[in-house]
Amino acid sequence: MFGVALSVSMFITIVLPGIDISSMSSTKTALENQLTYGWESGFNYYDPFLQGKDKPIKVVLTKDPATGEPIDQTDAYVFPAGTHFPDGITHDNILGDDVLQASISLGKIDQASEEAGAVFLVQATDDDVPYIENATATRGWQPDATLNAADQQLLAGAGKTLFVREGCWWCHTLLPEQTQDWQTFGRPPLVGDFNGESPTTFGSDRKAPDLLHVGSRNSSREWMTMHFFNPRLVQPHSIMPRYDYLWGDKDANGNPIDLAAWDEHYFEYAEGKRVYPPEVPAPAADSEARKLIDFVLNLK
Ligand code: HEC
Repeated sequence: MFGVALSVSMFITIVLPGIDISSMSSTKTALENQLTYGWESGFNYYDPFLQGKDKPIKVVLTKDPATGEPIDQTDAYVFPAGTHFPDGITHDNILGDDVLQASISLGKIDQASEEAGAVFLVQATDDDVPYIENATATRGWQPDATLNAADQQLLAGAGKTLFVREGCWWCHTLLPEQTQDWQTFGRPPLVGDFNGESPTTFGSDRKAPDLLHVGSRNSSREWMTMHFFNPRLVQPHSIMPRYDYLWGDKDANGNPIDLAAWDEHYFEYAEGKRVYPPEVPAPAADSEARKLIDFVLNLK
């Protein structure tokens, strides 16, 4: 009797939701997120210390990387050779039937190779079904040429790993609730928004603002830079920790960063002995601070 009860309850809890989730087609948001974050942002064999390795780069293009011709501004997702593809490409049944069909027939995702790398786009059919296009197969866009042609590179994929590692989710959610919440934090996610993303960073207990759409309400890189270096520079009573150690040893100009000297100056300012706080160093292009800021600004 117990065995039967246990089996039935396991079936209801594990199998039924599984069927339900896999029958849900990916939304455009889910495709963009998968391609931005790549495969597995939590602990994994390829990035055991959660440094943001093995991640794609989101780029903004205004010229065709293959021909050099001008094109309308386009977001593309570059997976350099050897970078793991997200589940939507390698286990493509999670895309949902219609999205999968379009991604193969129009998008040629079945021709993408992790070994050689690929560039992906998010497109929509005439009936507004979102799908993934493998631009390496359809347009001859090679990963290196695409990075070179880009106007802007966003290291948001690596940044998500740092968001996980640094425990931002202890305080912040990425899940506006289906209550009045959306009036402050933007629209709640839809059921198909998370296909292929691992892990989701919903958070559980909110001690700070929801961040799912933070890049839409505050797109200032300068504000984010100051706020991450020391939140008290812009929000005097903030309980958020400082993340100045993510800047590393050198700033964007290659000058050494001296946190002790910075602190000394800052505390004099906090005590009213100086009029201005010390200047926040510009993060180096390969610093963890830059990656985290790219991730946050990309949360639209
Ligand atoms: C101890 C709790 C705590 C932790 C941990 C924390 N934050 Fe915060 N965060 C806050 C609070 C409180 C605020 C609101 C006050 C402020 O702006 O500082 C905030 C504000 C923010 C904002 C601005 C939100 C808005 O609505 O404009 C961003 C962006 C942000 N945090 C990102 C992060 C990231 C990324 C991390 C991890 C690296 C992180 N936070 C870790 C408490 C926290």
